[in-house]
Amino acid sequence: MNKKIQIFFRIFIAVPFLVFSQTSQTNEPVITSTKTVLVVGGAGFIGSHVNKLLYQNGYETIVFDNLSRGNKDAVKYGKFIEGDLGDIQALKQVFENNNIDVVMHFAAFTDVGDSCLNPGAYYINNVANSVNLLQVMAQHSVKIFIFSSTAAIFGPPEEIPITENHPYHPISPYGRSKLMVEQILADFDIAHGIKYCSFRYFNAAGGDPDNILKNYKSKENNLIPLALRSLQEPQKCITIFGTDYSTPDGTGIRDYIHVYDLASAHILAMEKLLGGSTSSSYNLGNGKGYSVLEVIKAIEKITGQQINLIYGERRQGDVPYILASSEKAKNELGWEPQYSSLETMIEHAWKALN
Ligand SMILES: NC(=O)c1ccc[n+]([C@@H]2O[C@H](COP(=O)([O-])OP(=O)(O)OC[C@H]3O[C@@H](n4cnc5c(N)ncnc54)[C@H](O)[C@@H]3O)[C@@H](O)[C@H]2O)c1
Repeated sequence: MNKKIQIFFRIFIAVPFLVFSQTSQTNEPVITSTKTVLVVGGAGFIGSHVNKLLYQNGYETIVFDNLSRGNKDAVKYGKFIEGDLGDIQALKQVFENNNIDVVMHFAAFTDVGDSCLNPGAYYINNVANSVNLLQVMAQHSVKIFIFSSTAAIFGPPEEIPITENHPYHPISPYGRSKLMVEQILADFDIAHGIKYCSFRYFNAAGGDPDNILKNYKSKENNLIPLALRSLQEPQKCITIFGTDYSTPDGTGIRDYIHVYDLASAHILAMEKLLGGSTSSSYNLGNGKGYSVLEVIKAIEKITGQQINLIYGERRQGDVPYILASSEKAKNELGWEPQYSSLETMIEHAWKALN
């Protein structure tokens, strides 16, 4: 190598590589940014993982959570404020005391079956409290909002996979509450210029690949952690709701998506909005479905333990088969799931419980 080439190699290739590998090894933020993100519901499952990824990407974060479903131990990054979205004065203070650039909204009640029994609680917490948040954002000229919506806004699939153009026919108060917020967001965009991204998550699964964040839930309503937890208590059973669906083994089929893949989509969408993009909505799933029995068998294989099952009736508000098309997110955001295998999702969820 002649001398000029050697110098070029040292300065432009070797040096940046060394700097990059040092910062990533110490788990310090890789990109520097001064933006501050308010992570509402950041003590919960998905919000706590997004909070971690925001930190790793150099963002300042403030987690606002009433801990009704979340856990303070899940907030390992940024600042934590305990507060309720129903408390408008507390919300105003958060916006007055901090320079917030972006709001990510994860806080909600999330149990489909419970929403059929207690619809009022879902409309108050998921709809009215989201309006509180948007009002205070508008008053403080905060213009970027990322919203946790759900596949439940679509209802029983009329076409598979479900694209963003699929009709909206939610069959539970939970699904309707999320659809209402999506419609409200469009109004706040027109009236106040709040640019939003709504993500319709399919079934969030997995856990922190670094095993720093654990599973802090006191009450589960997702299949994989429910089934895994049942293995930790002798005599514990789990119920399969519906064994007579028109699916190959009669149990419901769902599209599972790793929580870290959800998190990476949030960063991409936020950066696109910060870059001046217009509001949008995206479905987030893997485009691959697994039946309840397939998930149970995979868990038994990975853990080497047998799950005690009860075969129950169908549950109100559930659909037989659901599968996402995430082509729009891939094309427009450049999003690509990294942890799409069911085995990886189960392994990460299992580690988070141990
Ligand atoms: N987990 C999934 O599979 C899934 C699928 C689709 C959509 N979603 C949506 O994603 C979001 C996050 O889901 P998750 O699984 O992390 O739920 P989670 O229950 O673990 O987290 C929600 C967090 O919001 C907090 N919260 C609730 N109401 C609040 C209020 N009034 N004020 C302040 N904090 C409040 C809770 O304490 C909790 O920490 C929810 O909006 C949910 O509807 C989740």
